[in-house]
Amino acid sequence: MAANTYSGEKMDKCTKLVEYLVNWYPDHARDLPWRKDTEPYHVWISEIMLQQTRVEAVKEYYKRFLKALPTIDALASVEDDYLLKLWEGLGYYNRARNLKKAAVAIVGDRNGAFPDTYEEILSLAGIGEYTAGAIGSICFDLPTPAVDGNVLRVYTRVMEEASNIDKQATKKKIREQLAKLYSKGQCGILTQSLMELGATVCLANGTPKCGECPLRTLCGAKEHDTWRQYPVRDGKKSRKREDKTVFVLRCRDRIAVRKRAGKGLLAGMWEFPNVEGILIEQQAADAASQWNTAPERMHRKLTYTHVFSHVEWRMTAYYLVCGQMCERFRWVTMEELEHEVAMPSAFRPFLDTLSHNAE
Ligand code: ADE
Ligand code: SF4
Repeated sequence: MAANTYSGEKMDKCTKLVEYLVNWYPDHARDLPWRKDTEPYHVWISEIMLQQTRVEAVKEYYKRFLKALPTIDALASVEDDYLLKLWEGLGYYNRARNLKKAAVAIVGDRNGAFPDTYEEILSLAGIGEYTAGAIGSICFDLPTPAVDGNVLRVYTRVMEEASNIDKQATKKKIREQLAKLYSKGQCGILTQSLMELGATVCLANGTPKCGECPLRTLCGAKEHDTWRQYPVRDGKKSRKREDKTVFVLRCRDRIAVRKRAGKGLLAGMWEFPNVEGILIEQQAADAASQWNTAPERMHRKLTYTHVFSHVEWRMTAYYLVCGQMCERFRWVTMEELEHEVAMPSAFRPFLDTLSHNAE
């Protein structure tokens, strides 16, 4: 068997994989603003924003960006200061600078028409193999997989592929294997369904939801209960990074805390309420409102990274003055917080700031 062909059994598995994913996607895909159409400009902007930023945070930036700069022409002629303002808070500002650079090239070389071949897309500033694959398949129905962390995780688990995904050769091999599964009319949906499965079912942090996975009857890792072993990575990169948004909620003389689950990291300790991912200010205020804490104002934002042995928490904390103590939290005095409530050092910096600045 040549290295690049599948054996009969594997091919069969792959055919089913495509069928199952494509059938699953329409009813399970999240309703995200960049999925409303397949206009290359829109898909491009969303993929660049999503490279280093979580879906939740990207949503609002994406809408605002396209409202401000609805066309490639508009992007090509935007003032740099305004562009960076639109990107403010998203970080990795070179992403924005490259967007403009690519837009200028598209307008100058191609009269504003987005390129429709993989090589031309790949040649644009700021666009690598992943993004070119995503745009190619989603917008132009090209057989070009977009291999990101989500897709690598799904693929290596289903196939029990034990090659190290931190090696370029592994990514290339997987990209080539996946490309063979792409067929006309299904390229976009296959790319998106792989990403979606990785983001919402075959989770990066925590136990995958195999019970609700459309690939559960094919998946090697499910069959052998080996999902923990995949994907294989470089040892030094094995520390997981988790983004969290922490809420320091104060109502009169009390602060909201809650108890962590009885199992797992820091089991049973007290913590400030927090959620996965980095919320922007407005989203944080909205979350606090939904908890019925009647937030009145936000008076501080603090970020802090806490490194554990196997995981690293990148925390953004919002300090909110609230009008109401809701049931879902325990509301403690500073005294109790200092002396009674066991709070892990991961949250200590937020606590210290509180006691030094009691208003
Ligand atoms: N992550 C990267 N690309 C994505 C997309 N198109 N939709 C959701 N999450 C993504
Ligand atoms: Fe991932 Fe489980 Fe689905 Fe396999 S069955 S792809 S491990 S979620």
